Amino acid sequence: MTSNETGTHGAVLQDTPPATDRPLVELRGAGKSYGNIRALHGVDLKVFSNQVTCVLGDNGAGKSTLIKIISGLHQHTEGEFLVDGEPVRFSTPREALDKGIATVYQDLAVVPLMPVWRNFFLGSEMTKGPWPVRRLDIERMKKTADEELRNMGIVLDDMEQPIGTLSGGQRQCVAIARAVYFGARVLILDEPTAALGVKQSGVVLKYIAAAREKGLGVIFITHNPHHAYMVGDHFSVLRLGTMELSASRSEVSLEELTNHMAGGTELASLKHELAQVRGVDVEELPEEGDLSAPVATSSEGKS
Ligand SMILES: Nc1ncnc2c1ncn2[C@@H]1O[C@H](COP(=O)(O)OP(=O)(O)OP(=O)(O)O)[C@@H](O)[C@H]1O
Ligand SMILES: [Mg+2]
Repeated sequence: MTSNETGTHGAVLQDTPPATDRPLVELRGAGKSYGNIRALHGVDLKVFSNQVTCVLGDNGAGKSTLIKIISGLHQHTEGEFLVDGEPVRFSTPREALDKGIATVYQDLAVVPLMPVWRNFFLGSEMTKGPWPVRRLDIERMKKTADEELRNMGIVLDDMEQPIGTLSGGQRQCVAIARAVYFGARVLILDEPTAALGVKQSGVVLKYIAAAREKGLGVIFITHNPHHAYMVGDHFSVLRLGTMELSASRSEVSLEELTNHMAGGTELASLKHELAQVRGVDVEELPEEGDLSAPVATSSEGKS
């Protein structure tokens, strides 16, 4: 039940103006080469408080490379990376975390058999008592985890239940609530809805919006333009390591975004290939004409 939410401000999906003019995180002409493989090149990106910045792109487009730079796993090899307007170069994810940049990876780093509250505080446990006899403050952790989850609109019956028994969507939500609680200013979500069904995706999208309402700058990585458009304030599309589109909500429609993602020409050639595969599959059957009829073989799709 989420009806007793304290918020009076509904999440209105229009252009949300940045809370400040200065981005929390900025990339200027940033790039990354792995040896002589150039995974990312000349990328500009600004992440503002109170905004969801969506990074879209096909497999191998450079999305993970981009977030690895921001989350401190890899260092950029060209351009600039700034946090609060200061050039930075992180050596470890810890340094990014210290600046308030938290990352929720797709394969969440949770211990499935541990209770929800324990996972919530994993690595940052609350303790009580003086130092030599200090022990875990279990009651306070349970209570806090419950409160924080409720704050985000996630109501679980039992904080003791193993996190592995939650659905994928709920686990993502717990991870988001955790990052918010531990003071993240920038929240990076790497394809949080990729493995989820429609309903579960909706739940995760809701908490992405909730994180934005709490003032965070969210970087939402996704393949799915529909998911992006439901919560996004800004859209950046990567293709083969470069930024092909960077547009705010008012500058791009869902159709345009979908087209950018699919790539008009690529879609046409995919159709063509699929038709050929179908042709091979049913070769023994005599109804070939029926299958090849709707395929435009020579038209170059214009995008
Ligand atoms: N550690 C690495 N060493 C060499 N090449 C790499 C490395 N990591 C990524 N690449 C290359 O960089 C390019 C971008 O990869 P990246 O993982 O950033 O793409 P992605 O957009 O996250 O793709 P996906 O949707 O499949 O996760 C790819 O061509 C990939 O092969
Ligand atoms: Mg990736």
